[in-house]
Amino acid sequence: MKEHKIAVIAGDGIGPEVIREGIKVLRRVAELDGTFRFTFTEFPWGCEYYLKHGRMMAEDGLEQLSKFDAILLGAVGYPGVPDHISLWDLLLVIRKHFDQYINLRPVKLLKGAPCPLKDVAREDINMTFVRENSEGEYAGSGAWLYRGKPNEVVIQNGVFSRSGCERVIRYAYELASREGKTLTSISKGNALNYSMVFWDEIFEEVGKDYPQVETHSYLVDAASMFMVKDPKRFQIVVTSNLFGDILTDLGAAIAGGMGLAAGANLNPERTYPSMFEPIHGSAPDIAGTGQANPLATVWAVSQMLDFFGHSEWGKKLVDCIETLLVEGKTLTPDLGGSATTAKVGDAVTALLK
Ligand code: NAD
Ligand code: IPM
Ligand code: MN
Repeated sequence: MKEHKIAVIAGDGIGPEVIREGIKVLRRVAELDGTFRFTFTEFPWGCEYYLKHGRMMAEDGLEQLSKFDAILLGAVGYPGVPDHISLWDLLLVIRKHFDQYINLRPVKLLKGAPCPLKDVAREDINMTFVRENSEGEYAGSGAWLYRGKPNEVVIQNGVFSRSGCERVIRYAYELASREGKTLTSISKGNALNYSMVFWDEIFEEVGKDYPQVETHSYLVDAASMFMVKDPKRFQIVVTSNLFGDILTDLGAAIAGGMGLAAGANLNPERTYPSMFEPIHGSAPDIAGTGQANPLATVWAVSQMLDFFGHSEWGKKLVDCIETLLVEGKTLTPDLGGSATTAKVGDAVTALLK
């Protein structure tokens, strides 16, 4: 029987609460399928670990993770540990070290999901964001000079390499071509006169190989406005690391909220493990109350199933989420219900049969 080895980093706050449900659902899927199974190895890394050991993960943590087929991550970051340390030393280092240069984030308004937009049909919100996930504004290049002095200076460089831009843009073209969808690039060439002009040029260049793909190009400010006013303009979207981060929270807001927003950090070559996670954070305001919505995690594990080639199960899970939303009986408070995290996970597994 095929075995998928999963490294689990539940992390902080609501991370462990939602991950428990993701694992529950994956176990049930494997049980029903019968041709593959999962093994889960849990790593106790995160902010609590940091407070005990002075580091976010074991010293050979990346080496340990490299042996797995995928990583399932809850959330990282908690009051008491500076965010730039907790996130850089766990989430971001994993994305970079394992060259997970594609961050695939569905922004799809399922039936029954709440939407704050007026005059927008449900089918109009159906996009896939391809976010650059390895460099750009998140390259971590810079300096902090004359700290605490009157002449203090900080420099945060954006790093856009030709190969880094080309590979994510090509991935997006391939996806758009395969799915027969339009491709929209979101950048900011009018103000970012090096990085984004370069990005736009590469978007055009790579496009020559895909004459069949209809393309659009927007400045990020206008794109944010159109996502709210006219979201049907967007199908497959490719954008830089920081713009993708911001726009996918906006995407979450128009497609049911943070409790439904999922993401896959992919190393398409499969040289390294890919990582699947809800895109929300550790939600300290509701951690420990049983109110966390696990559906974003369920959607993330559905992306994992797709990546492993079990896309019929991936689709089934998204259908289960939609059924729960339409029934409206077993939902967490963020979606107007009163069910607990565990009850929602149970409801998904029950629907699976
Ligand atoms: P957050 O996503 O944790 O919370 C934002 C709001 O959304 C909160 O009101 C929260 O209660 C709500 N929310 C989030 N997920 C929810 C869920 N599953 N169900 C119901 N409600 C949910 O963002 P934040 O407050 O900006 O960040 C908190 C911490 O998490 C910070 O340390 C931040 O750096 C970190 N963070 C981590 C990740 C990650 O690990 N991928 C992502 C974003 C933020
Ligand atoms: C996300 C998160 C991370 C990001 C943070 C926590 C570093 O917001 O996955 O969207 O900005 O990529
Ligand atoms: Mn984010």
